[in-house]
Amino acid sequence: MTSEPIIIAVDGPAASGKGTLARRLAAHFDYAYLDTGSLYRALAFDVLRRGEAPENASAGLRAAKALDLAMLNDPDILAALRTDAVGTAASLIAAQPDTRTAILQIQRDIADTPPDDKAGAVLDGRDIGTIVCPQAAHKIFVTARAEIRAERRWQELHQHDPQVSLKEVLADLESRDQRDSARATAPMRAAQDAHLLDTSDLSIEEAFAAALALVSH
Ligand code: CDP
Repeated sequence: MTSEPIIIAVDGPAASGKGTLARRLAAHFDYAYLDTGSLYRALAFDVLRRGEAPENASAGLRAAKALDLAMLNDPDILAALRTDAVGTAASLIAAQPDTRTAILQIQRDIADTPPDDKAGAVLDGRDIGTIVCPQAAHKIFVTARAEIRAERRWQELHQHDPQVSLKEVLADLESRDQRDSARATAPMRAAQDAHLLDTSDLSIEEAFAAALALVSH
């Protein structure tokens, strides 16, 4: 790879549809894809498994230093990372500045040198357009109304846990968004040069077509 990789930054709140869009954009352009939330979720999984408190900054930092990216290739682990409890713990850990710094370089390395010699990378998260890759060629901030996002996340979680209630999912999602937006370090925010994409009333196909139009000019 001789020229600079093309970076597409896709940010937005929980269950806004950013992961689906980012994955599809990566497939369309044959770019690498990184779900940065899965890194924070992996730390949370490790911290919870050890019985440590996610609020404990040294537990998060230890997990970040020990992070083994290979675990993200294991479908069983990926499924375990998707629970609401892991999402909440990830958001507590993600508010810790030293832990974020430890994770920042992993993300930038993938953006700077996409695996398999790909010509670009799509990263999704909360701070990709603002902090991780402010130089990204394209930035999209994906939103959707909270009730719609909760319904989508409930559909996803319900398949594995029939006990989970929509009300509970909405409450968790709103408190996580609040914490992610209010934290001092790298809060969730649309970059000034990001395109906003509201997927509330769009099908996956329509949202993808809209995202493609945004990055194609
Ligand atoms: O899939 P969902 O949108 O629910 O969440 P996620 O993208 O897997 O992220 C889980 C948590 O990680 C978020 O609530 C954030 O607190 C944190 N995160 C972050 O702080 N910065 C990122 N770039 C990505 C995720």
